[in-house]
Formats: sequence, C-alpha cells, structure tokens
Amino acid sequence: MRTALAFCLICTLGIAKTAPAQQTATDSQKNGAELYGSACAACHGPDGTGAPRATVGFDLPLPDFTDCSFGSPEADADWIAVVHEGGRARAFDPMMPAFGDALSGSEIARVVDHLRTLCTEDGWPRGDLNLPRPLATEKAFPENEAVLTSTFSPSGSDAVASELLYERRVGRRGQYEIAVPFELRETEAGNWGRGLGDIALAYKHVLFDSLPSGSILSGGTEIIFPTGKEAEGLGSGATVFEPFGTFSQMLPRDGFLHLHAGFEIPAGREGAHTESFWRAAVGRTFVEQQWYRAWSPMLELLGARTLANGEPAMWDVLPQIQVSLSTRQHVLLNAGLRVPINQRQNRGNRVMVYLLWDWFDGGLFTGW
Ligand code: HEC
Repeated sequence: MRTALAFCLICTLGIAKTAPAQQTATDSQKNGAELYGSACAACHGPDGTGAPRATVGFDLPLPDFTDCSFGSPEADADWIAVVHEGGRARAFDPMMPAFGDALSGSEIARVVDHLRTLCTEDGWPRGDLNLPRPLATEKAFPENEAVLTSTFSPSGSDAVASELLYERRVGRRGQYEIAVPFELRETEAGNWGRGLGDIALAYKHVLFDSLPSGSILSGGTEIIFPTGKEAEGLGSGATVFEPFGTFSQMLPRDGFLHLHAGFEIPAGREGAHTESFWRAAVGRTFVEQQWYRAWSPMLELLGARTLANGEPAMWDVLPQIQVSLSTRQHVLLNAGLRVPINQRQNRGNRVMVYLLWDWFDGGLFTGW
C-alpha cells in the first residue's frame, strides 16, 4: 500500500507536469502517443501491455491493450469515462487515476484513439457498434452475454414463459448461442407446473462493419429442436431452421436502429408452413451525469406472416426501456409491453422483461 501511495504521488506529479498548476485542463498540441507516453505509460507500459509489477509497485493486473479480443468490444464512451473519472466510473480499481482535471476532453479523446492503435489485427468489430439490445429484435454485434427473458400477461395469471440464452463469441466475427425456453404454468389442480420448451442453437457471423458509417450487418442460422412436450403446448413438434439477417445502425445524438428479418422453416412435418418475420427497433440512450447510468428507451415494431395459408400478417408494437444496473454497465434490465396491433381476438398484451449479464466484462456480483 505504501509503495502504491508513493507511486501515485509520483504519477500525480508526472501528470501535474503535463497540466497547468491550477489543475484545469487546457488543450495541448501533443498527439495521442505523446500524451500516452507522459500520462499512461508508467502504469500501462510503453507498448500498452502493462508495466511490470516491480515498476508499478502494485499487484493489480493491468489490461493488455494490444489484445484485440479484450479491447475491441469496449466502446470509446466507456474508456473515455474511465480516463476522465478514474476507475470508479466503471467500478474498476481506484488505482486507475482520474484525468478529468489534468487532460482536456480532446486530449482524452486523442489518448483513447492511441489506445485503439495498439490492437493491430483487422476484422474485430468495434464495441461502439454494440448498440442496446431490444427485447425481440436480434442485434448484429456478436456478444458474450447471458440473458434471462420472461413473458407473461399483465394480470400475472396463466403462464410465465421464460428463456435462458447464452451467447459466446468465436474468433473475430462469429458468435454462437444456445437458447433454453421453459414455462411455468398453473395446472388445473391449482399448482404451478413447469416444462421445457424447444431448445435452439444458433450461429451468427459479422458480414460487414464500419465504424465511420456506424453500421454493422450479420447473418446467421438458428436450428430449433423439438425438445418440448408438444401435447402440453410446449413446443412445435418439428425441427425448425431459421436463416436470418440483422443490421444495426448508429444514429445521430446517441440514437440507434436495429433491423432483423428471416424465415422459420419447419422440416419433416406435414402441413407445417414456413413463416417469415421482420422486426425493427429504434431507440436513444441517455446517460446520467454524462458518465454513469444509461437509460435506453426503445420502440419495436414486429411483424410475422405464415406463408402459403393466405392469412394476413400479424403486427405488434413493443415499447420498452433498458437501464444499466451495475456501474460496470454489464448487468442490464429491460422491461416492455408487447401489444398486438391486429388479430387481437386471440392475442393479448404481454409484459416482457429481461436481465442481461455481459459476463466478459466481469462476474455477476463484481462491478457494482
Ligand atoms: C497509476 C497507474 C495508472 C495510470 C497512470 C493509468 N492507469 Fe489506466 N488503469 C490502471 C489500472 C490499475 C487499471 C485496471 C483497474 C482494474 O482492473 O480494476 C487501469 C485501467 C484502465 C482502463 C480500463 C480498461 C478496461 O478494463 O476496460 C483504461 C481505458 C485505462 N486504464 C486507460 C488509461 C489511460 C488512457 C491512462 C493515461 C491517460 C491511464 N490509464 C493511466 C492504472 C493506471
């Protein structure tokens, strides 16, 4: 602790040299690499892999900014918040100092741009394209996360349909996922019974991404296996192939858009029809005190149509709001109400809620 304190004195002095005496930031002419060299390299190492423990005088592991699998999924906004406010901005160790008084906004942006040059491999989509996740529309960015979604009627009666989804990135642009649906429902005897639904496996791949235009496009396929007990209404009884495409776009003023469309093709079952679906979500993110809790209200429009049986498309709207619960911003809650627009006679309103944990950014109980 004493070494850390002594070190921090040295590092503050080091920073003070680059900042005016009264600790208010003025914009220097230094480029990102020079700023990094004078303000960050003592701890993060000249090459960004982290200075040796003996030099920094503390035991805490330092991030490796040359590791693209670590750095590329992080959004600039998160790194800028950490540099401005110190480790506490994302519940990291306070050993990561706050530079908001020593460096101007444009200097912090330049130094973060320099951090970006330390990952030298191509093909890793940037975390800035990882836009907030809607309740029904699949987003294009590949994720490392677990999501528990529940759907039930606003009166709380009948059944609660839930799904546990696990997503994991593979390589630079791939992601696979496993979805396990299960239902809790009130039996005639008045007890709550439970049952497994149709388990799904999916693979998604980023086909195109561009940070300057704020766009990312992915394609994938899901296979839904008939693991649910159809007789109890827990599954379709058929294996379903679902090819899909998904596109996400950053919009001005922290707005965003997701589009997702595909087909559900049942295999090996007489009389089962292919269904097409299309989903769109628009939203905007508002951040408390510039760096902290993020609120993202969104509106989804959902359409689906069974091909070949002449029935009209079914349309729903789904207003919702997502909020970050943890300071790390890796545990998020989203709640919305799915409202059928047409064919309302046999379709009621549904409350939808998810709890999302981005496990790559930290344990479920760390980072608060
Ligand atoms: C006194 C040592 C020290 C200095 C100086 C320092 N850092 Fe850090 N920084 C750390 C430590 C330690 C962590 C890891 C904290 C943790 O994991 O809890 C960290 C974490 C970070 C992170 C978060 C990475 C992640 O996991 O997402 C960023 C970004 C960062 N530093 C950028 C900078 C920049 C840019 C500078 C210079 C302007 C700088 N740091 C200067 C010690 C330092």
